Amino acid sequence: MNEPLRAAVIGAGYWGPNLARNFRTSPHWDLVAVCDLDEAKAAKVVGPRSTVEVMTSTEALLARDDVDAVAIATPASTHAAIAMAALRAGKHVVVEKPIADNSADAQAMVDLADERGLVLMVDHTFCYTPPVLKIRELVADGSLGDVLFIDSVRINLGLVQPDVDVFWDLAPHDLSILDFVLPGGLEPVGIAAQGADPIGAGQTCVGYLTLPLASGAIAHVHVNWLSPTKIRQMVVGGSKQTVVWDDLQPQQRLTVYDRGVELGAEQPDKATTNISYRLGDAWAPALPEREALGAMVAEFAGAIREGRAPRTDGRAGLRVLKVLEAASRSLADGGRLVTGSTVEVSA
Ligand SMILES: NC(=O)c1ccc[n+]([C@@H]2O[C@H](COP(=O)([O-])OP(=O)(O)OC[C@H]3O[C@@H](n4cnc5c(N)ncnc54)[C@H](O)[C@@H]3O)[C@@H](O)[C@H]2O)c1
Repeated sequence: MNEPLRAAVIGAGYWGPNLARNFRTSPHWDLVAVCDLDEAKAAKVVGPRSTVEVMTSTEALLARDDVDAVAIATPASTHAAIAMAALRAGKHVVVEKPIADNSADAQAMVDLADERGLVLMVDHTFCYTPPVLKIRELVADGSLGDVLFIDSVRINLGLVQPDVDVFWDLAPHDLSILDFVLPGGLEPVGIAAQGADPIGAGQTCVGYLTLPLASGAIAHVHVNWLSPTKIRQMVVGGSKQTVVWDDLQPQQRLTVYDRGVELGAEQPDKATTNISYRLGDAWAPALPEREALGAMVAEFAGAIREGRAPRTDGRAGLRVLKVLEAASRSLADGGRLVTGSTVEVSA
């Protein structure tokens, strides 16, 4: 029961090596193989004098019976085909974000995993970082009160991608965090996306995503490849407290403000309401410094062992993907608020 599970990593480009390193150092896992179409890339990840095998054929890898699970870190357009083949071969799957490049394929992945009783997980890496786990806890235990607004900024000088726009490149991170921290997950009642390509790169490079929520709250995400300054900040405003996450401040990534606005009694003239401002303390929760992917691979093993859904399961990946698709529709329609059945993201 406590023997390590056996994993293989498919895709040894930029991100795959991080997955391989974490499977290798995890007590829950034994890394059996690294597979890439480019043998040299896989060999580089494995390194010299290693028992980890280098493979170039996904088919041959999936035919092995000494592999319990695979981690897919290939380009998004290939996720569904590889994941479906892995599930058919009886392997548990963790796939990189975004889960697939369209929601029909993602739905098929979720359905097949259910049918086969296999774990399908998405590597929504930020959901395993100490600040995001703390924000989720502060929302869930009522410390923040009702969530009134979320404002997320993820901007820097980014690599302009040939095949995806800035929403598909960067917003999966923000959306997966919203899905993770909001009670009930990411279920906006509408989606509006505005964007621009002011340098003529052929892709939207600056993007603004607005997500009204059923509670009357609103979330906003700003993603941008053209900003010379790097900002990674999220504000979660609550009726009791507000938390500010600045990921570029390792000494104090989170600050909780016991400050806010309160509505008092209606004035006798009934035309105005008394608004008061609460100016309390600010405090910084102590957070451990640890690599998120270590917690992610541990969660993958836990879900397989306990036969339960992982924290960031295929359904979470599908909810994020449906929001991205609705954002693309809104963008193509001049930024109109897309509402109704087209934004139903329940999976
Ligand atoms: N979680 C995160 O924070 C994070 C960060 C970066 C990238 N990613 C995701 O990781 C995935 C990979 O991104 P990347 O930047 O590493 O891409 P990359 O292009 O650097 O690497 C992809 C690798 O996959 C290999 N490959 C392609 N098709 C294959 C197949 N059929 N079988 C085996 N190997 C195949 C390629 O040869 C290449 O080495 C993407 O989905 C991306 O969104 C996630």
